[in-house]
Amino acid sequence: MSGAIQPLLHVDGLHAHYGKSHVLRGVTLQVGRGEVVSLLGRNGSGRSTTLKAMMGLVPPSAGRVELGGRALAGAPPHAICRAGLAYVPEEREVFANLTVDENLRMGQQPPVAGAVRWSIPQMFDWFPRLKERRGTKAGSLSGGEQQMLTICRSLLGNPLAILIDEPTEGLAPKIVAQVAECIQDMRRQGVSVVLVEQKLAIALKVSTRVCVMGHGHIVFEGSPAQLLADREMQQQWLAV
Ligand SMILES: Nc1ncnc2c1ncn2[C@@H]1O[C@H](COP(=O)(O)OP(=O)(O)OP(=O)(O)O)[C@@H](O)[C@H]1O
Ligand SMILES: [Mg+2]
Repeated sequence: MSGAIQPLLHVDGLHAHYGKSHVLRGVTLQVGRGEVVSLLGRNGSGRSTTLKAMMGLVPPSAGRVELGGRALAGAPPHAICRAGLAYVPEEREVFANLTVDENLRMGQQPPVAGAVRWSIPQMFDWFPRLKERRGTKAGSLSGGEQQMLTICRSLLGNPLAILIDEPTEGLAPKIVAQVAECIQDMRRQGVSVVLVEQKLAIALKVSTRVCVMGHGHIVFEGSPAQLLADREMQQQWLAV
């Protein structure tokens, strides 16, 4: 990894099980401040489990997770969230009976030392559609709108780092482009992002680094250009 990058998030030798099934077998990765690191891999390769184990939603059976020097592995999800790690799950989690505005206000947290401070107008700049629908109950939004809302609500907690699982899945191309722009903006502002993204083109576009998962750990780590040039790696670990 480039020496110029100041590491913020460290994952070291992370293991996780579902019952007897040993899914994560020593995942190690570092994310610098303002870096977007994509986790790629085939279906079932453990990308979502990596995010869940970092967030404490799946208890790690071994390994270390550190954010800004604070050890997080073994802590409950709410404590990990308060330490500055945000998580946007694949299932869009909105409060269905609250309006868009109310959902966003639910996400707002006081400023966090060392973290970027976000505002609701900034969210509306990224996603004008949310502004148009600010008085609408979140339960009646489209899947894409719910995805935007979930991302925005998480960011309004002013996290140091955010984990985002397949944010563009099932979205129209125009919305995919807006989500990509929003992720690039997070990076420009200095938020660290770990992104699970199925669309290789999007991952290559928004990431500073890409990691490929296989056999329960990282089998490739490099720049988007390095992955793009490595046909063999793509064939072995990404081709369906
Ligand atoms: N709750 C669970 N209970 C038991 N096994 C699970 C559970 N969740 C995931 N698994 C299994 O763990 C492995 C890794 O799953 P994970 O969801 O992390 O994969 P992924 O890389 O996110 O792929 P995808 O999103 O395409 O399913 C898979 O074999 C999956 O079947
Ligand atoms: Mg997944």
